[in-house]
Amino acid sequence: MKIETFALERWMTTYELDVSYDITESGIAPMSLREVIDLVPADEREALLERLLGTRLGYSEAPGSLDLRSELAATYRDTGPDEILVTTGAIEANFLLFNVLLDAGDHVVVVDPAYQQLQSVPRAIGCDVTPWRLRPENGFRFDLDELETLLRPETKLLVVNTPQNPTGAILSAAELRRVYALAEERGARVLCDEAYRWLEIPGGEPLAPPVRDLGERGISVGTFSKPFGLPGLRTGWIAGPADVVAACWAMRDYVSLSPGKLNDLLATIALRHRDQVVARTRAIIAANLATADAWFAEHADLVSWQRPRGGLLAMLRYALDVPSGELANRLAEQYSVMLAPGSAFGYEGFLRLGVGAPPELFAAGLAETARCLADLRATGTPLRAGAERALVGAS
Ligand SMILES: Cc1ncc(COP(=O)(O)O)c(C=O)c1O
Repeated sequence: MKIETFALERWMTTYELDVSYDITESGIAPMSLREVIDLVPADEREALLERLLGTRLGYSEAPGSLDLRSELAATYRDTGPDEILVTTGAIEANFLLFNVLLDAGDHVVVVDPAYQQLQSVPRAIGCDVTPWRLRPENGFRFDLDELETLLRPETKLLVVNTPQNPTGAILSAAELRRVYALAEERGARVLCDEAYRWLEIPGGEPLAPPVRDLGERGISVGTFSKPFGLPGLRTGWIAGPADVVAACWAMRDYVSLSPGKLNDLLATIALRHRDQVVARTRAIIAANLATADAWFAEHADLVSWQRPRGGLLAMLRYALDVPSGELANRLAEQYSVMLAPGSAFGYEGFLRLGVGAPPELFAAGLAETARCLADLRATGTPLRAGAERALVGAS
């Protein structure tokens, strides 16, 4: 398979180990191993540590342990452990699904912009990929009437992602039901990348149920990376019809074979204590949102945003007439701040902001960003034509 370069990953690796303020990350400040162990009641920790230390590091159950698959299955309607495959992150889940479900020439509609894999893998398979664009002038909302015009009678797969990376857009429960119905009318399946499941904005709108709950055409992808702050476990999953899950498992024999044994065990512990973990995640997001709200208000002459409606990402709009790639490199090299360029998503004049970083680091990163923009303004960088107008009402 020939596949295009994952542009954003390449850009991130240039800077991510060197910068002090990574405030573009798509995840939440990771939990430590100790924090995971401390999720269990104090009187059970000793036994858990003994179990971990005594674990023989052989191959684990190839589709994921029955314990983990059963816990995951219980988070969906009418789903058993055979309808779950534990994968090496959501990234492997998506990769397997595309390769199992699609052939060269198939028509696929994919939300745009998107986590690049969602478009690049279907393209590499040779599919005809139609983007379903989220537009800043529309508040990054999913336009369902437009979707109706993009779907064709022969469309094989519709790929959505809610809450969304990079815009923070969401499909409401009613919208997701309509998406599902539109796909069903055409005999297509819906793959929903639910990497940001459980991440409602504190005090915000409720999230739609997983697409798996809507019927047999719905396939949900999940991960421990985002809501749990455990990307180092490299553990995700597929929830879908048993035949699709079995086919993905068969393909996975050639890719990663099975989950890591310790990862599977730690993921099971985290899932059993999901409420505690998600409370931690939401507390970080709430603190950073409050900081961001104040920062955007203070610097309203230079920046604005569409606050995330779900998940933890949003596009930051800046008013200076400087290309986003140039600004992102300047921020990283001279201010030690990482903010991904909007150009990576086809949004010139924007940077991608993540609200999952440790709160102190997040606040310091925003302060440095404001300093960079003020320095540029002071040294004569003009405002982008129409920027003042664009900023009004954009938050
Ligand atoms: C929408 C989306 N899907 C999938 C992934 C991959 O996540 P994982 O770490 O579970 O492989 C990411 C990571 O950023 C993502 O944002």
